[in-house]
Amino acid sequence: MNNARKRLVFDVVVWSASLMFVFGLVTSEAMADSKRSFATNEKWKAECGSCHIAYQPNLLPASAWRRIMAGLDKHFGTDASLDAASSAEIGAFLERNAGSGKRAASVPASLRITDTRWFVRKHDEVPRAAWKNPQVKTAANCSACHSGAERGDFDEDAVRIPR
Ligand code: HEC
Ligand code: HEC
Repeated sequence: MNNARKRLVFDVVVWSASLMFVFGLVTSEAMADSKRSFATNEKWKAECGSCHIAYQPNLLPASAWRRIMAGLDKHFGTDASLDAASSAEIGAFLERNAGSGKRAASVPASLRITDTRWFVRKHDEVPRAAWKNPQVKTAANCSACHSGAERGDFDEDAVRIPR
């Protein structure tokens, strides 16, 4: 090989390697956002994880969390009121780590994760009977099927519908 040719081969190798590297970063970022994004706060975990799992903040956009935190005294048929300091800390944590992009495109009037468009679409193949299984009880019981739900892990490979 002459020098010009060597140089060309070298350039191609370096460019492909960097492209692959950048592509890898972009995909892993995207996956982290959709499946494994994980945020935590002690107060949030204790207060919002006592009746159901502490739903990861990225499952709803900031505007939905703000409305949920403003209405804790009438929380999906129950009273989940908090003192002002805890409420402020948890609210700030939820909004800081809230969902964005496609997930945030629409907020259902019910403020339920399970009524969002993306949730309905991702679960359109779940048989109706599965939601009513006594081991599931409600669609809001994410961890009945997603063992990693509390860690924000909804990877398809780890889904198991109870029978
Ligand atoms: C006193 C018990 C209690 C506490 C404490 C509580 N929740 Fe709930 N939460 C409920 C009940 C009951 C439901 C309705 C569950 C159902 O319909 O299956 C609910 C539902 C939800 C939903 C909607 C789930 C869906 O259907 O998509 C969200 C979001 C939510 N809670 C967030 C929070 C946050 C944030 C906190 C902490 C500030 C919190 N909850 C604290 C009882 C509680
Ligand atoms: C009855 C079982 C069941 C319950 C309860 C359930 N899911 Fe799922 N979920 C599934 C199944 C099945 C899939 C589809 C997996 C696939 O695409 O093959 C899925 C897919 C998903 C996905 C998409 C994963 C991906 O890789 O694209 C997300 C995110 C998700 N669920 C979040 C939730 C959340 C949040 C809750 C609770 C509010 C929940 N799920 C409750 C069964 C369930």
